[in-house]
Amino acid sequence: MSTSFLLWNDENIQKASEWLKQGEVVAFPTETVYGLGADATNEAAIKKIFEAKGRPSDNPLIVHLSDVEQMSRYVTEITPLAKQLIDAFMPGPLTVILKSNGKIAKNVTAGLDTVGLRIPDHFAARELIKASDLPVAAPSANLSGKPSPTSAVHVYQDLKDKISAILDGGPTGVGVESTVVDCTGSHAVILRPGGITKQDIEHVLQTPVEDATILETKDKPKSPGMKYTHYEPEVPMILIDGDDDYFRKKIKQYQSEGKKVGLLVSEELARQAQGDVVITVGTREDIATVANQLYHALRSFKKTDVDVILAETFIEDGVGQAVMNRMKKAATYIDVGAKLK
Ligand code: TXA
Ligand code: MG
Repeated sequence: MSTSFLLWNDENIQKASEWLKQGEVVAFPTETVYGLGADATNEAAIKKIFEAKGRPSDNPLIVHLSDVEQMSRYVTEITPLAKQLIDAFMPGPLTVILKSNGKIAKNVTAGLDTVGLRIPDHFAARELIKASDLPVAAPSANLSGKPSPTSAVHVYQDLKDKISAILDGGPTGVGVESTVVDCTGSHAVILRPGGITKQDIEHVLQTPVEDATILETKDKPKSPGMKYTHYEPEVPMILIDGDDDYFRKKIKQYQSEGKKVGLLVSEELARQAQGDVVITVGTREDIATVANQLYHALRSFKKTDVDVILAETFIEDGVGQAVMNRMKKAATYIDVGAKLK
């Protein structure tokens, strides 16, 4: 199958929505990352998503809707907790987990009785969903295990000839995926940190919120997807949890072993560290830019000849929690050094 590149104008959104209705898969932009969409009520169409990505079948997909009315058609109840979060953050980078009423295909939810739902804050995404009049299941549009795509070109690199079309909406804004929040119980539980921060949620709910990922292990994840290797660049990446002197020492150590060292660092550190390839992701103060640049940076090392990537740690506050969650998953291991920062 050859993959069509479609600029997102009215005509192409219409074309893409027809493909969805016919049970084909189409990649589309959202405000977080590109999604790989198919009709969430069509089991055969959903199977194509899992095949194209090489995704394990026990990892459920998020269903994308154009508005709250459409969302209410697929759940037993929009709980008061969910309603508060939906009112505050949707459309936006938030996914709520609610009880499914069974209308969503079984392979979307991986057999669970719950379903993840979100309304993306991207005009093309919502127009596509509206035009198809379907709930659109969409994981990130990358090969399983690779960094999520933040541009149409990233999607093409991973899924060329495996999907019908890519709707090109330019680079995405947030750059990390939505925050997944379990709203089935009396308390909200964060299953994956993302574009909406823990502080944002606590501010709206006026109560402390549990982040289940803090104590998460790969054997016992709260969110099924979090147990797999994720976001991996093509080269081993070591996360350096230390001050700038420690980081420089590590660069020298690897270089003295004859290795070509790639750096994934802030602009501050880039100014005072000498790697063989240096990719910056913004300043330490501007964590939103770091989130926006992270996946592109991880992918960029593929085109270089570095033997190892040394990556800086960022402060785990606000969107920094999502950034560090992804960097830890991408890393081969964390090197804990002196901490003066
Ligand atoms: O920003 C995003 O959320 C992007 C864009 C495309 O919308 N999508 C995305 O989908 O990141 P994906 O499939 O890469 O990640 C979905 C995450 C996985 O960790 C999965 O396990 C979790 O959501 N998830 C989905 N349904 C769930 C459920 N019923 N219960 C618990 N976790 C669920
Ligand atoms: Mg993903």
